[in-house]
Amino acid sequence: MTERQTLLTGRGISRVFGKGKERQTALDGVDVEVCAGECLALIGGSGSGKSTLMRILLGLDQPTSGTVTFEGEPVDGKKSAGYQALRRESSLVFQSPFTSLDPRWTVVKSVSEPLEIQRKRHSKTDGLDIGQKVREALSLVGLNPDEFLNRYPADLSGGQAQRVAIARALVTDPKLIVADEPMSAIDVAARLQILEAFAAIRKSRPETAIIMISHDLGVVQHIADRIVVLHDGKVVESGSTDDVLNRPKAAYTRELVEAASL
Ligand SMILES: Nc1ncnc2c1ncn2[C@@H]1O[C@H](COP(=O)(O)OP(=O)(O)OP(=O)(O)O)[C@@H](O)[C@H]1O
Ligand SMILES: [Mg+2]
Repeated sequence: MTERQTLLTGRGISRVFGKGKERQTALDGVDVEVCAGECLALIGGSGSGKSTLMRILLGLDQPTSGTVTFEGEPVDGKKSAGYQALRRESSLVFQSPFTSLDPRWTVVKSVSEPLEIQRKRHSKTDGLDIGQKVREALSLVGLNPDEFLNRYPADLSGGQAQRVAIARALVTDPKLIVADEPMSAIDVAARLQILEAFAAIRKSRPETAIIMISHDLGVVQHIADRIVVLHDGKVVESGSTDDVLNRPKAAYTRELVEAASL
């Protein structure tokens, strides 16, 4: 196997919120790295620091200490080269698809908008057939374009809406897709379709890295290459999916393995 290139790193990431009595350490010395094309799962209970870490890795929040790099460039404020590259090369999928989708926009408008924005900035969309890209993205997530292009979010089930949000995230061919609990607001029956959508991305876009955040190890077991387990703002375990699921070292990970669904 060829060596994968490191895409995103966080080194010694700490984040403290508040002062005095309110002071709270959300992250404490976290090291994490994501390589091109890999799927990393970030697992932990409520309040363990997953979303805080995600925001810091994407440059949307500043760590109290520690450094983030994207493709070797520091992510350090909005003007930094790493942050600029991240803005171009990453997209986010939220817990609730209805947060990502404007209720007044049809599916075709929601999914084509990121490409229209890129076109305005004259970046990588020269001569691109946006309509074709939108159709491909919808097909990839298992939605028939002819059926869904002209629908509004109100006419979609939660699972369909989340797949539209995923199509919107992947349509620009980003180097990184970050999904924060993409299945937890979706009913159980439709979760498999979301997982299948991510599996299809992995297959057809082998260079795209995915960070999947979840409190449930079961959700990520078939999709992640590696798992990082957070507990009270610290990494308590990290390793291959096989090792973490079948040979967990930390007591906290063993609890998560027992509680895993699917
Ligand atoms: N803006 C903020 N101000 C103060 N405290 C915060 C802020 N954001 C997060 N925290 C605290 O940091 C800790 C980690 O929160 P975070 O949202 O990262 O957890 P999480 O793992 O994403 O949890 P969940 O599974 O519930 O989404 C929590 O104790 C939270 O209360
Ligand atoms: Mg969270």
